[in-house]
Amino acid sequence: AKNVTQLDKITNFQTRSEEFFPIDWYKQKLEESPIFYDETTDTWNVFKHEDVTEVLTNYEYFSSEGARTTIQVGSKSEEGEVPDKTNLNFADPPKHRKRRSLLQAAFTPRSLKNWEPRIQEIIEELVEELKEKEEVDLVQDFAGPIPSIVITDLFDIPITDRDQFKEWVDTLFKPIRSENAEQIEQEKQQAAMEYYQYLFPIIVEKRQNLSDDIISDLVRAEVDGESFTDDEIVRTTMLLLGAGVETTAHLLANTFYSLLYDDPSLYQELREDPSLAPKVTEEMLRYRFHSSKRDRTVKKDNQLLGVDLKEGDLIVAWMSAANLDEEVFEDPYNLNIHRPSNKKHVTFGKGPHFCMGAPLARLESNLTLTTFVKAFSKIEALPFELEENLVESATGQSLTHLPAKLYR
Ligand code: HEM
Repeated sequence: AKNVTQLDKITNFQTRSEEFFPIDWYKQKLEESPIFYDETTDTWNVFKHEDVTEVLTNYEYFSSEGARTTIQVGSKSEEGEVPDKTNLNFADPPKHRKRRSLLQAAFTPRSLKNWEPRIQEIIEELVEELKEKEEVDLVQDFAGPIPSIVITDLFDIPITDRDQFKEWVDTLFKPIRSENAEQIEQEKQQAAMEYYQYLFPIIVEKRQNLSDDIISDLVRAEVDGESFTDDEIVRTTMLLLGAGVETTAHLLANTFYSLLYDDPSLYQELREDPSLAPKVTEEMLRYRFHSSKRDRTVKKDNQLLGVDLKEGDLIVAWMSAANLDEEVFEDPYNLNIHRPSNKKHVTFGKGPHFCMGAPLARLESNLTLTTFVKAFSKIEALPFELEENLVESATGQSLTHLPAKLYR
């Protein structure tokens, strides 16, 4: 198991809200120390768009392999560990290419097109439920459940097991801090075991009845004569859950937060022209996702970033800070869905590891927005204390509740 470096020691935020929207800190770093070495964690940190791009793309110098990392994957038990063949996060090209193309089978544009009506239907059902209440919790009742219901549906998990499935997922990807490390690790191991025992027979059975879902696609996938075993498929689904559920929920929740609090006129604009949804999604990814970061290990001594980097150094690319770089984004501290460079954000990464689920996350966000604005003429914020409604998660601080009043 890898040694996980905790980044909160670098940011040292005093409140949850500060960590939830750290743009003052990013601004200060971009202006005063766009590249710096942090002693407590023994890490290099880069913030500028150009440097972040270099670190993420130049795998000859900046490797995804390495003994230290800042992200937690799986649990330290037999069932919870991601085996080599399915673990893309920690491999470089050319090894990475082969692993990635096996997994790519589950994320073809054709599959996505086939899944669109199913995703649409899931969102419509949730919107129907929202219509029955006047005051809703946009996180608990809507944004939070969408990605988890979508992925369980795309895995073809029986509807009756969805809640149990979500519970396992929540436990498996709980963040670990030093105070509670041991207890959380135990809970994770238990969840990994139960999850494994639940899913394995489903996959065995699925081999005999392939259909149109992610697990079937993983069974069918073959590259250069290699394919996944049942065991590898179970673990690959864990990887997908870890990469795709909380991240997308974070994006959706923060989008509604933004629609309520950043710019109330944006909702009307989108309702009048729902074809703006993709622009809203991109700008939210740039401005309101705000917790995207990844690390790499220096592979060969170099000065590519203007400082002396030594083999073995850990370097953190702060992508959400790069999304505020004035050299790439005009007026970066303002939310503007019409900015011409709206796809230059690096929230999904860049280069060989670029997020494989980006088309799915974008689709979920766009369908959520268009379906929601069609149903409600107006939304209004209800009294709410941000600091009291945040919780630590794999994506930094995440909203637990977001009360709002909806008008039909
Ligand atoms: C990789 C972000 C949703 C699957 C990544 C990376 C980032 C990222 C930054 C690059 C990691 C690196 O450079 O080391 C996000 C965000 C999401 C999201 C912000 C939602 C808003 C999803 C979804 C899935 C997914 C929905 C699938 C269900 C993956 C996979 C990788 C990845 C498999 C590994 C790719 C590789 O290493 O080659 N994601 N992701 N992600 N993501 Fe996502």
